[in-house]
Amino acid sequence: GAPVTADITGLQEGQRLIFEWRGQPIWIVKRSKAVLDALPTLDTRLRDPKSENADQQPAYIKQANPELRSFKPDISVLVGLCTHLGCSPEIKAEIRPEPFDPEWKGGYFCPCHKSRFDLAGRVFQGVPAPTNLVVPPHYFADDNTIVIG
Ligand code: FES
Repeated sequence: GAPVTADITGLQEGQRLIFEWRGQPIWIVKRSKAVLDALPTLDTRLRDPKSENADQQPAYIKQANPELRSFKPDISVLVGLCTHLGCSPEIKAEIRPEPFDPEWKGGYFCPCHKSRFDLAGRVFQGVPAPTNLVVPPHYFADDNTIVIG
């Protein structure tokens, strides 16, 4: 499939834009400073905190930042499909403890079988999803333009 150009002009903190690439939903989320500060503190609870599984992101994304999984710290680009059986996770783009898991600091929650991911798409331990969410190949053509594919 052809690359998709995503215009993120006006994307606000905590917001998610959704595009489509190769029949898959692509999420682009702008993360707050509070979220970025919280992400590295989750490492011990995650299955692959440093993005060691090479299938889940391009090598240049791991090199740029293995914990945030992005070129620019605040802008996250993910394939919006759970790595268990492909359901669409819900987003909670803020830091707020949940009653069912007070230590879960926001992120993605898959309603199908309760897999949880942080706001870098990193999977928590003890859930059905085996791997982090996929970061698709992409680059910034300019500050507000991301080319996916
Ligand atoms: Fe997401 Fe099963 S499809 S937890």
